[in-house]
Amino acid sequence: MRSDTLRQQSRDPASVAVYRAPVRFARDPLAELEAVSGRTGGQIVRLNLGFLRPYLVTRPDDVQHVLSANAERYVREGMMWQPVRRLTGNGISGDGPPWRASREVLRPMFAARHVAALTDLLAATVNEAVDALDGHAATGRPFDVAEAMTRVADLALGRAFFGGGIAAADGDRLGQAVATAFTSLTARMLLPFAPRWLPLPGDRAFRRAVRTVDDVMYPLVAQRRRQPDADDVVALLCQARDGDGRPLDDRRIRDDVVGMYVAGTETTAMALTWLWVALDANPDVARRLRAEVEEVVGDERPAAAHLPRLRYTRMVVQEVLRLYPSGWFLPRTALADDVVGGVRIPAGSTVVMSPYLTHRMPSLWDRPDTFDPERFGAERAGRHRFAYLPFAGGPHQCLGSQLFMVEAQLVVAAMLSRFRPRLRDDGPVHPRAAVTLRPSRRLAMTITRREP
Ligand code: HEM
Repeated sequence: MRSDTLRQQSRDPASVAVYRAPVRFARDPLAELEAVSGRTGGQIVRLNLGFLRPYLVTRPDDVQHVLSANAERYVREGMMWQPVRRLTGNGISGDGPPWRASREVLRPMFAARHVAALTDLLAATVNEAVDALDGHAATGRPFDVAEAMTRVADLALGRAFFGGGIAAADGDRLGQAVATAFTSLTARMLLPFAPRWLPLPGDRAFRRAVRTVDDVMYPLVAQRRRQPDADDVVALLCQARDGDGRPLDDRRIRDDVVGMYVAGTETTAMALTWLWVALDANPDVARRLRAEVEEVVGDERPAAAHLPRLRYTRMVVQEVLRLYPSGWFLPRTALADDVVGGVRIPAGSTVVMSPYLTHRMPSLWDRPDTFDPERFGAERAGRHRFAYLPFAGGPHQCLGSQLFMVEAQLVVAAMLSRFRPRLRDDGPVHPRAAVTLRPSRRLAMTITRREP
């Protein structure tokens, strides 16, 4: 980075470094942010991106201040939130009282006890999705890893949310429509101040996708209202009451299910995709992981009972989320003037936290670029709570973290107990910033059946 792109500005009560290089930033935001964060050692930096001037906050104490200790002063408005809300409404993906009410209703459905009850269903779903890859083992034909992991994630969340209440074709339509809606929002996210009446690329595809989501969701809600004994998430929402004791209306149920679906599918799919990149680049870790799966699962089908003994698997997944946290940036808007890490943050400012950057800070992590699952062994005590935050923290902390950990362990166990996966050597791959953290290119995988 050139020295003229990072300047100290005198401010009260503390000076704040200002970074100006909107063009280079647009080309590769992750690399630029990493360089900025490295140069300041995690000090708060103001990014001058022309149309937007957010403060970048990466030190654990400062992140904790914004996400947790003073969370009521920072809301999910502006930047990426406004466009996303046109898809998900203002419940669980929003903020303020509507968000709080949704969170209260949804939280018990993702508590450890409920996730444990879901584990057999998840295991059956993951086994089914991994079985479907067997054709590739027979032919040796490569397949796209991100697509395969997206199918697993869609299927698993679809079953957890909708039980058997959604036909496979509708499940596919919903998954595709949510994915299309998300990608077609890119222009609106990059131009957060563009008025709604101004047509932008992607707007029509977005509207079509939202219509499809509604076409699948509303009949499903109506069906679940007629089946009060069903026990999937939609049925539970139909039975739930809001803070005032009133049943939730169809719109609210639709918004929260879509909000959770959006929060849970792409994040899961990308984390599972990075897992194979990490294993491919770290054969020693891959060997030890295979040994654990062989010992614990052997020739059985991975199931709930295996999970407590798949300890190294869990550590590997945690380390994947350190180097490749799908939720790589967390923007907030300051409601009032504040001082964070000695820097004055005026009301209305955008503040951006980034688990990706915090997870790679040399002051927090020994050899931060090295993939080392041992970091999550028994002796990890002493780490700052906000040094590792793939699922964020504070009141908006991810509701699906346990569900994901269970699903990821099952995917690893199902894949490695049946196959020997290999990535095709198509050159280097690095993280690319989108709404989630995506690989810079397509990844082709080949699998062979594991010898008994
Ligand atoms: C690797 C997988 C996942 C990652 C990395 C991840 C990450 C995150 C992060 C960083 C947040 C906080 C957003 C913020 O503070 O603004 C979040 C929130 C959320 N996540 Fe996840 N998530 C994952 C999987 C899931 C799954 C499987 C679900 C399933 C339902 C889910 C549901 C949610 C919900 C509902 C919220 C909003 C919570 C709130 O604002 O109260 N996530 N997630």
